[in-house]
Amino acid sequence: MPARLDTRPMCIPVALREDGSVHYRDYRAVPHGLTLGATESGKSVYQRNLVAGLAPHHVALVGIDCKQGVELFPLARRFSALADNPDAALELLEALVTHMEEVYQLIRAEQRISVAVLDAEIAADIWDLPEDIRPVPVVVLVDEVAELALYATKDEEKRRDRRRGRRPRDHGPTPHRV
Ligand SMILES: Nc1ncnc2c1ncn2[C@@H]1O[C@H](COP(=O)(O)OP(=O)(O)O)[C@@H](O)[C@H]1O
Ligand SMILES: [Mg+2]
Repeated sequence: MPARLDTRPMCIPVALREDGSVHYRDYRAVPHGLTLGATESGKSVYQRNLVAGLAPHHVALVGIDCKQGVELFPLARRFSALADNPDAALELLEALVTHMEEVYQLIRAEQRISVAVLDAEIAADIWDLPEDIRPVPVVVLVDEVAELALYATKDEEKRRDRRRGRRPRDHGPTPHRV
């Protein structure tokens, strides 16, 4: 890597391009990403590099590794929360959704829209908020996302709904009380 690197928040140098320039994983420009590759092509190592690269940044890391934690648990000290099985992953994702809703409420409360406010100046994400009230950005890493899809079988879905106190989605006729 060259000695001089971009140090913008949430911008992680991850590789050198063929022309010698640095390739960055810029979470502000591209918040979501899916890393695709054949088995043994380096996806998990890339993810570990992201964890290391995010270390100097003001960010909370959350990890989901349903392969019993083999990839992310060695880095557990870097994470604010880590799940190594589908049940823990579900709880973690639900907590993140609650957090996300609170952040949206905060953004909405801060928008203060009037006729004088230009569209482009309306707060739409945490980076538009003043620094003193801006929530800590959360980066969620999932190794690997296919493990979450495995959880979405009908049986697992019913089990999840039972745990949430919901009537499982029934695809048959509705039972009648007699
Ligand atoms: N950039 C790299 N340089 C050298 N070896 C690497 C690199 N990335 C991964 N590897 C090696 O390749 C193997 C597979 O990497 P891994 O990240 O586990 O693959 P995947 O998660 O895509 O199955 C590991 O032995 C790892 O040490
Ligand atoms: Mg892997």
